[in-house]
Amino acid sequence: MAMPADTNAAGDIFGGWVLSQMDLAGGIAAGQRALGRVVTISVDRMTFIRPVQVGDVLCVYCSIPTVGRTSMKVAIEAWALRHRHGGREKVTDATFTFVAVDDTGRPRPVPPLDAEG
Ligand SMILES: CC(C)(COP(=O)(O)OP(=O)(O)OC[C@H]1O[C@@H](n2cnc3c(N)ncnc32)[C@H](O)[C@@H]1OP(=O)(O)O)[C@@H](O)C(=O)NCCC(=O)NCCS
Repeated sequence: MAMPADTNAAGDIFGGWVLSQMDLAGGIAAGQRALGRVVTISVDRMTFIRPVQVGDVLCVYCSIPTVGRTSMKVAIEAWALRHRHGGREKVTDATFTFVAVDDTGRPRPVPPLDAEG
């Protein structure tokens, strides 16, 4: 939920807060796909279509359309659920790229989909 601490001096939610929630969500999705540690390597262009206000719940949806050798492109959409239970409006979307890394932070191959057994 967007809280007063996430606002700028004018009372609007920082775009960086939204980006950070998307990075967190994408990191969870990529980490689940890669079965381990991942890092964000890039974020494509973002446009903020609608504002987020205090009391809105930010809903973040992820899908992974592309998996490379060590990288994954995660398509991420952020929607604002107005005042916790109102209508939903799309706020922004972006493609984040995550890289699976080993314990030393070096790229490692993303395991095949059935690697979990
Ligand atoms: C991610 C990191 C380990 C990659 O190291 P690297 O030596 O550049 O690795 P590589 O050149 O082997 O590239 C790894 C993968 O990233 C992809 N990649 C490299 N640069 C990229 C870019 N700018 N955008 C998207 N993907 C990129 C490569 O295509 C490769 O993917 P593939 O294996 O699926 O083909 C290194 O750049 C890093 O540690 N970056 C900092 C990450 C971080 O701290 N993020 C949080 C910032 S606060």
